[in-house]
Order: sequence, then structure tokens, then C-alpha cells
Amino acid sequence: HDHLLTANQLTREDIELVLDRAAEVDANPASFGQRHAGTLLGLCFFEPSTRTKMSFEAAMKRLGGDVVDMGSVDSSSVKKGESLADTVRVVEGYTDALVLRHPLMGAAKMASEFVDVPLVNAGDGAGHHPTQTLLDLYTIRENAGLDDLTIGIMGDLKYGRTVHSLATALTNFDATQHFVSPESLKLPRSVRYDLHEAGATVREHTDIEEVLPQLDVLYVTRIQRERFPDENEYHRIAGEYQIDAGTLQAASDDLTVMHPLPRVDEIAPEIDGTDYARYFEQAHNGVPVRMALLDLLLEDSA
Ligand code: CP
Repeated sequence: HDHLLTANQLTREDIELVLDRAAEVDANPASFGQRHAGTLLGLCFFEPSTRTKMSFEAAMKRLGGDVVDMGSVDSSSVKKGESLADTVRVVEGYTDALVLRHPLMGAAKMASEFVDVPLVNAGDGAGHHPTQTLLDLYTIRENAGLDDLTIGIMGDLKYGRTVHSLATALTNFDATQHFVSPESLKLPRSVRYDLHEAGATVREHTDIEEVLPQLDVLYVTRIQRERFPDENEYHRIAGEYQIDAGTLQAASDDLTVMHPLPRVDEIAPEIDGTDYARYFEQAHNGVPVRMALLDLLLEDSA
């Protein structure tokens, strides 16, 4: 594929190709150090990011290349009203590949129609975040294995793009997915449709206690405060979807707790030092996984 836009385009073969390449990077990072010397990656982030942006930058530099960064919306000509289509058409002339984050769902797909260099979706509104999914799958594979997997995915399933991509990609594996959320934040119809079409094994719950003891992996996400018109309603709901040491007493000793981060207060800091916590390892896996992805995309487009 030239572009990576949603998790729907990822086959099991594609995923294993990236994860196996990431494992090679992890085993021998030095052998990748000059592989893409002289290559420039364009970063167009129309929304804030710490992990995705910095790990793409680290990845490109660790492959011997460099980045050209549009900067923030406020410091770029987006501020003067330049369109997304014009922005990406200009930046593709400066670079060999593009990474785009944008607040509108479908923005990456639209932008990809204007460029010839590989374009990677780094998050499009409440749509998809496929590179997060690749590092999530890498982390799951290392900790629990991807087949015969029972995973709980909890929090804001409606707007959470990391959830939409992960749930979709997991249909390539023998996984049972338990979705845990308030009624108002259940998976959107489009993602349900994709899971149904793929024949995924799916259950829905409003209470984590119903499923926690069965889980190999618990993937926690942030309840997005900005989605709630009523502050009291936000606090009531958010309080019910928090994990602390007390909650995890009912979990298997082998449970892997993940979170795409940033977290607010969904996971109590007392969990951080336990064997359950894998969310910082997960964030660190962003570098080898994005190195692997860039290596494959640039190899294909060379
Ligand atoms: N997980 C993730 O996408 O984090 P950032 O928003 O910091 O990139």
C-alpha cells in the first residue's frame, strides 16, 4: 500500500510484516541506522500530539533521515486560511513521505488523493489511528500473544479513534473483544458494521467487573471531557471507568493493562509500578514500530 489511512486496509499479513520488522529493529537497531539516510519525512499535525509526533520524528532520525515539521496550526499558513489539500500538495514537494493528524474524520483519506508520496494517518478526528494500532498489536503480541486473546476495551468507544482502529485490526486474529462503556459512549455504527462483516466475536458491557477476571488484556481509554455538554454528567461517568488497585484484585495475575495515553485519571498511579502496567512500554514501542512502518513504506515507494 502507498498510504496507511485506516485499520480496515491492514491484513494479517501486513500486520505481521510490520511487527516482525519492528522486532528486527528492537533486536538490532544499529543495522537500521543509515538505511534511509537523506530521506525527509513531513509532519503535518493540525492537532496536539506528544507520542505520535515525537516517535515518528525519533523513528525517521533513527533510520538516518530527518523531518520537516509544519509546526502548529497557529504558526503555519493554515492560520491564513490555507486548505488541507493545498498544504499537503506543497509539503509533498519538500519531503519523501507525509504524516498527517487532523481533527476531521476522513481528512487523511481526502488529503491522500492530492499526493503521490506515502501518506500516513496519525489520527483523523473520531475516525482511525492505524499506527497506534500497530504499536498496540506489537505490545499485545509481546505480552499476551495475538491468538486465543480475550481483550477488554474500556472507556470512550464512540469517539476513541485508537479503539476504532484496534477493534478493526483485531478481527484478523482469534480474539474475543469485550467492549466496556457507558451507554452513551458505545462503539459507533460504522465500526460495529465492520466488526460484524468480519465475523468478530464481540460482547458489550457497562460494568468492567462483569468481564475483568477473564481478560488477558485490558485496554483503557480516556473519557473525553470535551464531548460532554454537562460537567456533572462527565464526572459521574468518568468516575465509573477508572482502574485502581482495588479494581484489579479481581483480575488474573497475568493481566496486561494498556492505555494509548495521554491518561487523565482513568488509571490510578498506584498501578504504574505493578506487573500489570504496560502503557509506558507501549508508548516506547512507538519508535521501533514506526521505524518498521517507514522502512517498509519507503522501500515500496523507492
Ligand atoms: N496515543 C497518542 O496518539 O498520543 P498523542 O496524542 O500524544 O500523539
